[in-house]
Parts: sequence; C-alpha cells; structure tokens
Amino acid sequence: MTPLMRAHELAADWNARFQGAPALDVLRAAYAEFGREITLASSFGPEDTALIDLACQATDRPRVFFLDTGRLHEETYEILNSVRDRYGLNIELFFPESSAVESLVRKKGPFSFYESIENRRECCGIRKVEPLGRALAGARAWITGLRREQSVTRTDVELVEVDETHNHILKLNPLVDWTYEDVVSYHEERRIPMHSLVGKGYPSIGCAPCTRAIQPGEDQRAGRWWWEADDSKECGLHVDESGQITRASGKANS
Ligand code: ADX
Ligand code: SF4
Repeated sequence: MTPLMRAHELAADWNARFQGAPALDVLRAAYAEFGREITLASSFGPEDTALIDLACQATDRPRVFFLDTGRLHEETYEILNSVRDRYGLNIELFFPESSAVESLVRKKGPFSFYESIENRRECCGIRKVEPLGRALAGARAWITGLRREQSVTRTDVELVEVDETHNHILKLNPLVDWTYEDVVSYHEERRIPMHSLVGKGYPSIGCAPCTRAIQPGEDQRAGRWWWEADDSKECGLHVDESGQITRASGKANS
C-alpha cells in the first residue's frame, strides 16, 4: 500500500469513528495518536481561540503555530499575547521570507493585491502559503478551525482530510460541524479570550488591508477580499494546486 493510500485509509477510518463526536474527543484521540507531531494552525480568530482552549484540555501544552504575514491588525497581536499568557503557550511564529517580501513590495508597491486576483494570490503565496509549508515541516498532521458553514467554498470540508499539498499529512478540522453560534457560545461558557474585532463586525479576520467589517445578513466571509467579485475567496492555505479546497478523504483529486 502506498503512503497516499494509507493516509486516505486512515482519514476514512477517523471520519467513520468520529462522525458527530465532540471536538474534544477528536482532539484527545489526535494527541494520543500524533503526540508532538501534530500542530494547530491559529490565526487567533474566534474558531482558533476555541480550538486552543479545547486542545489545552486534550493535552499538555499543544503545539500552536501562527503565520505572521506582516500585514495584520494590532488587535491580532493583542489576542496572541492574551492567549500566550493565559495558557502558557510558546506560539511558533512563522514570518515570510524577507527577500521575497522586499522584492514584491519594491516591484509592485504595498497594495498590489487590490489590482488583480493574480497579484492578490502572489501576496498570499509569499506571506502565507510559503510559510505554511515551513510550519508543517516534519508534522504528521495539523489542526485547523475550518467550518463548513463559513462559505460556499467550504461546504464539503470533512472532519479529517488528506492534505495532498503537504506531503499527504492529515488535516483535522474538529469544528467542521460547528455553527458560528456554537463558536460564540463556547467562548461564553468557557470565558476565553476573544479577538476584539469580532465585536466590531469581523466574524472572519485576516490581514488588515484585506479584511473589513460585514453588514448584518452578509456572508461570514464577505469582509475578506471584499473587492473581488467571485465567491471562491481562499488565500491558498486550504486549496490544492488546482485552486480547489482540500478534498475529503477517499475523494482524491481526479
Ligand atoms: S484563510 O485561508 O481565509 O486565511 P481563515 O481565516 O478562514 O482562512 O482561517 C481558517 C483556518 O486557517 C483557521 O482556523 C486557522 O486554522 C488557519 N489559519 C488562517 N490564517 C492563519 C494564520 N495567519 N496562521 C495560522 N493559521 C491560520
Ligand atoms: Fe497579502 Fe492580503 Fe493575502 Fe495578507 S490577505 S497575504 S495582505 S493579499
């Protein structure tokens, strides 16, 4: 059996075993299976602070990484600091390659992403996607705060997926079935730190120049790259080389 087949088999097995299971059960099993070889991706949005709280119940000092794009809101650093203090975590920070940022900004200026989708993807590629590869080096699995309800691009996300762009490691999305209300209630019940922009109309938070507040009734991710007309808005962290959102286990890309 090839490593790819083994990964798909493992993902299918986990999806069957943990269908409808509480996120904490999934995380406990994940840490038992992968130990220090599983790492949690946090942007410090509301899903990720809930996940960190759950992970700290599932294991002692979970590994957490953060991709610092260099274009984030001040509030994101504030919540990072609160989480760091509250849980005693050593957050693993990853910065973009300085030479790539220097050359991009020298050549195209600091706001090239507003000019075209290609330019926007180029910036996300340098500031997020390349550092993600380094953050996942040596890991056997990673954990994200993806939820199906977040957008039309995410309705097929599975609890456990095979990440074909990162060496076929497993990708766990323990909050996949949670609604936005579930995330907020979890925060209230556990009294955990919340990104302060959430209360100002930002249910989804990315880089400062590429995120704005949403209006009542708008899609949860409507404030991300709002100037782009199509609704396939993904920065590249969760899509494969063809631009498709990571496929579910057993549904390898054709
Ligand atoms: S994005 O692809 O559009 O930026 P989104 O902001 O919805 O993603 O976040 C989805 C998940 O991707 C988060 O729950 C988190 O697991 C991961 N993620 C997003 N941005 C970062 C970041 N800067 N650092 C680490 N993980 C991130
Ligand atoms: Fe660049 Fe905007 Fe993507 Fe951030 S979200 S990496 S600033 S294009």
